Amino acid sequence: MGTNERTLVILKPDAVQRGLVGEIVARYERRGLKIAAMKFEQVSRETAEHHYGEHKGKPFYEGLVNYITSAPSVLMVIEGPDAVGVVRKMNGATKPADAEPGTVRADFGLTIGRNLVHASDSGESATREVGNFFGGGGIVEYTRAIDSWIIED
Ligand code: RTP
Ligand code: MG
Repeated sequence: MGTNERTLVILKPDAVQRGLVGEIVARYERRGLKIAAMKFEQVSRETAEHHYGEHKGKPFYEGLVNYITSAPSVLMVIEGPDAVGVVRKMNGATKPADAEPGTVRADFGLTIGRNLVHASDSGESATREVGNFFGGGGIVEYTRAIDSWIIED
């Protein structure tokens, strides 16, 4: 099996407002990925600026922070073999017009500024982002009886 990884996923405010939370979470669950943490909150400007710090100074930065802080989001830690890359592929290309059919952004999105989901882009980003959103706790360690039917030992 691949390396067990954790990745930080955000169902952004447009996903919540459009009533797509269940549909999107169901995709990760059906794939066999495990929910390690999940909370519902309106992200603060401070947390958003920390999260998107790499984009500070870019033309889309202000709009991006305004968007992500404009209404509640779902914050998740998702776990599984190669979870970082697997979830990025399931979410699809940043620009929905370039995303492959079958991905979240292609199936539900049209524009880059309302692209529904975020997922960490590397193991290092995942560690930093999980710490940013769940540094105060909230990650749950548990096993699932079905795991041996999803992941070979
Ligand atoms: P994310 O961080 O949200 O998972 O998306 P990503 O890695 O695929 O893309 P990234 O380059 O990190 O960009 C972060 C978010 O900024 C918005 N964006 N807008 N208008 C633009 O040119 C532009 N470029 C990026 C998107 O919401 C993107 O998801
Ligand atoms: Mg990114």
